[in-house]
Amino acid sequence: MGKIIAVASHKGGVGKTTTALNLGFSLSRFGQKILLIDGDPQGAMAIASNLKKRTKRGLIDLLRHECTAEDVVILTKDKTMAILGNGVTEPEDVFFFEREARTGNLGKVIRSVVKGYDYVLIDSPAGTGNIVTALLGISNSIIMPINCRTIAVKTLPTFLKLTRRIREKFNTDLHIEGVVITMIDPRDSEMCEELRAALPRSALFETLIPFDAYFEKASSKSVPVAMLSGGAAAGRSYMDLAMELKAREVRDQKIKDEEVEGLF
Ligand SMILES: Nc1ncnc2c1ncn2[C@@H]1O[C@H](COP(=O)(O)OP(=O)(O)OP(=O)(O)O)[C@@H](O)[C@H]1O
Ligand SMILES: [Mg+2]
Repeated sequence: MGKIIAVASHKGGVGKTTTALNLGFSLSRFGQKILLIDGDPQGAMAIASNLKKRTKRGLIDLLRHECTAEDVVILTKDKTMAILGNGVTEPEDVFFFEREARTGNLGKVIRSVVKGYDYVLIDSPAGTGNIVTALLGISNSIIMPINCRTIAVKTLPTFLKLTRRIREKFNTDLHIEGVVITMIDPRDSEMCEELRAALPRSALFETLIPFDAYFEKASSKSVPVAMLSGGAAAGRSYMDLAMELKAREVRDQKIKDEEVEGLF
């Protein structure tokens, strides 16, 4: 099984959905098999306009045993990624989704569909509630988008505390892949430097995601930004992030190899 990465953050509107979608798309361009899961019942990652087959069904229908994974895990038209929406359409669905997260069923259902992919990226809701806890409980790592305009640094400790608690209690595997600074505007440079200085280097992706109006356009069409005409420059930043992620993995792997070598 590949790696399950939750794209999560304490703050709302910092680019979690954008990161899950565009990083997933970029990794797929490197030939990786990608599954994107929309774990935010209040959001709308559904890149429905770009799917091979239209469906409103998703995780919630799996939770209700009303369909199989084949019915709801849908490939994009260009077959670059598989998408699993959340299927939430009614307000009461949100309560059901929350409850299933609390009981552990959400985690079980996600585990049942992740086999065969190199990367599973889960778009998480903001905050530290039941759904986020359940998603982190079954993830290998977290990518945390943050932007310089928010009081991001102040909110980080709460999220890191949750991560530590989950690791200690029921997912020893969970680690922070990295914090990625998004929506950077030249005017933010001072605040960004402060943020960079406040975080350990190893915890921070060097790739910076610039503020670019094309992201908003791409979001409204529910497609990766690189697919928009004129969106290539914005898309490149997520290509860089994908490459940095791979490079970090290779570096980690080397460390592990050396450790193993030392035993013989
Ligand atoms: N780099 C960027 N430049 C400009 N706009 C961006 C950028 N990244 C994301 N956006 C826009 O900012 C808005 C919020 O982004 P997004 O939905 O990805 O955040 P989120 O963290 O998932 O929010 P929520 O917590 O509400 O789920 C969207 O309209 C998106 O198009
Ligand atoms: Mg979102």
